[in-house]
Amino acid sequence: MTEFNKSKWAKAEFSQEYVENSDIYVVERRRLLEILRSFYNHFINNKPKINILDLGCGDGIITHELLKVNNSMSTTLIDGSENMLNKAKKRLNGFNHTHFIKASFQEIIDKNIIQGNFDFIVSSLAIHHLTMYEKKALFRSIYSHLDTDGYFLNIDVVLAPTEALERWYLLLWKEWIDERKAVLKIEGNYFNEISQKYKDPVNDKPDILDTQIGALKSIGFKDVDCFYKYGIFTMYGGKK
Ligand SMILES: C[S@@+](CC[C@H](N)C(=O)[O-])C[C@H]1O[C@@H](n2cnc3c(N)ncnc32)[C@H](O)[C@@H]1O
Repeated sequence: MTEFNKSKWAKAEFSQEYVENSDIYVVERRRLLEILRSFYNHFINNKPKINILDLGCGDGIITHELLKVNNSMSTTLIDGSENMLNKAKKRLNGFNHTHFIKASFQEIIDKNIIQGNFDFIVSSLAIHHLTMYEKKALFRSIYSHLDTDGYFLNIDVVLAPTEALERWYLLLWKEWIDERKAVLKIEGNYFNEISQKYKDPVNDKPDILDTQIGALKSIGFKDVDCFYKYGIFTMYGGKK
């Protein structure tokens, strides 16, 4: 089992850097959030008392987007980083029924950290920090904490299935960053740094999309699909 405390996310300065630059790092971040809200409106928002769980919540951006649609739902946010959870608490200050838990995914898998069931379990750009073995174990835990008809949605980076595709996907990513880099006047070889980090085996362990879709299906998820894809950036999930 990998350990959260040995990852870059355990360091406050790394998480701060991500929060400041995520709209540049993440291709079509704003569009992803629009699609997430549409998914929520279409599949979740018609239920009477909504409980959602945000895994690897970071500064709470995903939960915040959903609270903008429905501020009466109950939300639980989990992250391994105290620093990130503090940012999330600050961001969601003023919303009712918000619960924060400091725990790593490894603890979720090994111990009974999650209590109760949820209508919607969402995660963004966090699960790729786990090995495929751990991802599948986490998907099982997610499945067991979803209500019947509840949904899981994961926004994440994936590995390209071939080297030729990877070269193009990285080019797409570079083009996205280069356009914004000019606007924001970022110095240095920014893209090389982050594209190397994305496959750095100590921290980031992206897997092929098909493998993750297959894992969800084998666990019993229904309506499994990739809802959005742009190079290595994807949104996929399914229903219990
Ligand atoms: C790239 S940030 C994404 C944050 C937020 N979900 C977003 O979309 O902006 C990844 C988050 O996952 C958390 N994280 C990474 N590995 C984790 C693990 N093994 N267990 C729990 N949280 C983890 C980090 O602390 C960080 O807050």
